[in-house]
Amino acid sequence: MLLRTKKELESFLSLKKENEDIGLVPTMGALHQGHLSLVSAALSENKKVVISIFVNPTQFNNTEDLRKYPQTLEADIDLLSTISNELVVFAPSTEEIYADEVKTKSYQFHGLDKVMEGEFREDHFNGVGTIVEMLLRLVKPDSAYFGEKDFQQLQIIRKMVELQQLPVEIIGCPIVREPNGLAMSSRNERLSKTLRKEASFIYETLQNAKEKFGTNSAQEVIKWVQKKFENHQLLNLEYIEITDADTLTPIQKKQKNVKYRAFVAVYADDVRLIDNIALN
Ligand code: PAF
Repeated sequence: MLLRTKKELESFLSLKKENEDIGLVPTMGALHQGHLSLVSAALSENKKVVISIFVNPTQFNNTEDLRKYPQTLEADIDLLSTISNELVVFAPSTEEIYADEVKTKSYQFHGLDKVMEGEFREDHFNGVGTIVEMLLRLVKPDSAYFGEKDFQQLQIIRKMVELQQLPVEIIGCPIVREPNGLAMSSRNERLSKTLRKEASFIYETLQNAKEKFGTNSAQEVIKWVQKKFENHQLLNLEYIEITDADTLTPIQKKQKNVKYRAFVAVYADDVRLIDNIALN
């Protein structure tokens, strides 16, 4: 079922029975197997599943990136129909969501937004918070599903939900990878054949970093990763960061009982790829 307006969404929700759980999978479309894994997780835990498809202008800090973002609604619906015929797609227009004022709300994310993606993409997370809060208020799901590829986004959404006291469970789902290890992303389609192959280097390096983290200091691991990328002809490292997985505070000294994660952003030509790995 395809819903284009808030009104259509409301009438769909009005038919929901009290004991029927709703799962929401927010997306910006250009769906791939990574999204399907979120939808499958949602289907296994809920009676009804809504997939929102909305390219949210307030989270793009680069208008060129927004302009180039693939809009493939028909193909997305076809792909979704390969796993279930009972899915509900909510694909509103920008006007439907933002009316005549495309405005970003400002959140207090307690530093979660100051590192990594937040440092390199100004106001991006306020834009993500704005749209996810709107979608959660509109769809009122019991659970909402997000991929761990955007791990920082996942933690920020958890914080936003806590701050706004929204009655929803946020579920993080594991990264889905291409056969060569490259994390699935709509952006992979923009890579040349050579770069898509070469980009396997990103996950390979993260896996080696994880191994090194067992016996080396975080600083040594960071330096080692930087060196590996310096020696790579086609991939440019924007950042490598090792942080506390919950607070996203960059590591100073390894502590017992703290979960750490390594994060990278890498340019392959003009395509920006991100990935991360749990280190312990
Ligand atoms: O991860 C995404 O695709 C987007 O950031 C999200 C969560 C759908 C918000 O627009």
